[in-house]
Amino acid sequence: MICGRSGGRTGNVDEYRLFYNPLPMTTTLPVCDDRSLSQLALGLTGSEILKISGEIRTLSEAGRDVCNLTVGDFSPKEFRIPKVLEDLIAEAFAAGETNYPPSDGTKELRQAVIRYYDDVLGLKYPIESTVIAGGARPIIFAAYAAVVDPGDKVVYTIPSWNNAHYVYLTRGVPVEIAVGPDTNFLPTADLLRPHIRDARLICICTPLNPTGTVMARDEVERIARLVVDENERRTAAGERALLLLWDQVYWMLTFGGFRHYTPPQLVPEVTPYTIFVDGISKSFAATGLRVGWVVAPPTITAKMRDILGHVGAWAPRPEQIAVAKFLGMRAEIDEFHKTMIRELQLRLDLLYDGIEAMRREGLPVCAIAPQGAIYLSVQFDLIGRGNIATNEQIRRLLLDDAGFAVVPFQAFGLPQETGWFRLSAGAVSPSQIEAGLARVRNVLARFA
Ligand SMILES: Cc1ncc(COP(=O)(O)O)c(C=O)c1O
Repeated sequence: MICGRSGGRTGNVDEYRLFYNPLPMTTTLPVCDDRSLSQLALGLTGSEILKISGEIRTLSEAGRDVCNLTVGDFSPKEFRIPKVLEDLIAEAFAAGETNYPPSDGTKELRQAVIRYYDDVLGLKYPIESTVIAGGARPIIFAAYAAVVDPGDKVVYTIPSWNNAHYVYLTRGVPVEIAVGPDTNFLPTADLLRPHIRDARLICICTPLNPTGTVMARDEVERIARLVVDENERRTAAGERALLLLWDQVYWMLTFGGFRHYTPPQLVPEVTPYTIFVDGISKSFAATGLRVGWVVAPPTITAKMRDILGHVGAWAPRPEQIAVAKFLGMRAEIDEFHKTMIRELQLRLDLLYDGIEAMRREGLPVCAIAPQGAIYLSVQFDLIGRGNIATNEQIRRLLLDDAGFAVVPFQAFGLPQETGWFRLSAGAVSPSQIEAGLARVRNVLARFA
């Protein structure tokens, strides 16, 4: 493919020189073709979710009334970061805290993370077990890069958020296990067991993006035991360990009777094999601040620090200083979460109740009750009705005819055309949800 080719140019070196040196400036891009790109870059695919979200943003900017349930993000109009955190960041700026942070994060923030895990989760780690980065994404990438060799098997269930991309980037071999509503779209020890014998890494996220479901205590314990048993076998056989990447970026957001559990809380022997991915993006509606962290054995975090250091994926210093102080303010955090969870639950319940009311009316739709994170799983059961054969057709129908923007589970790696979608509640108001649901009802009524 040729990109930005200017008429008649051949792309030789002299022409580039001519093209770049002389003034006046030209807006034509230089010749480039795919041979300029690495094999890694050529094989990479961008985020499907961001593509869909971009389309909706364009529609909204053009004045279209869309109930936007696509972005795994918060609108600051609906969810602000904690006021005290905002003030602490401003204070840090005013104090001139604008130089490089240490490559593994400021000591104060690392200590604060370790203290927070001890206080709230009952997990005891040395300070060397944590490294700070510019959000959870660089942490996930660095964790993969630190432990996965080309050809290593990485096991995860689909739908899954982005594991396929990180496996690709580290040249691992994905072992994807398709799961369904019978397990709330979550992995179980029984589903994982047949795949772990020669695997390097198991990746689990709970509360889960995209489904908003939360793994039950018993299952967390069973999976932790599975990892410990496999590692006992490997230790005896002198083999490399099986590791567990535990992405808990939504752990502070659970509803009703649902609670978050961690493997080391329930099975302490799994601690040497567990890599926690975490940060403030979701728990404090702070996606744009870019502060994430890992908590894992120091042998792994030391290498992650070096990888992240070379990329320069540090969290900004003023935010690190502010978050270090904020994590020590338990009363303020609890107060903030009371409001945040109430507002999230209000939106997710509105969606769930609206969908359930349609189901009771006999319309082809159903949902899983909200459990955690900022998401709801909804099945628009339209495949095979009229001439609808794909989730993409359902997505378009809901967008075009109901101004209701949702993300199909295909964007999370599940290839089956099952009518399941992710609805994200962080960027919409209750009234937008009510209006959107009324329009959806009219569309679904055509299929009753
Ligand atoms: C499960 C999960 N892990 C990690 C991340 C990345 O978070 P961050 O914005 O801190 O990079 C996301 C973001 O959507 C997520 O959903």
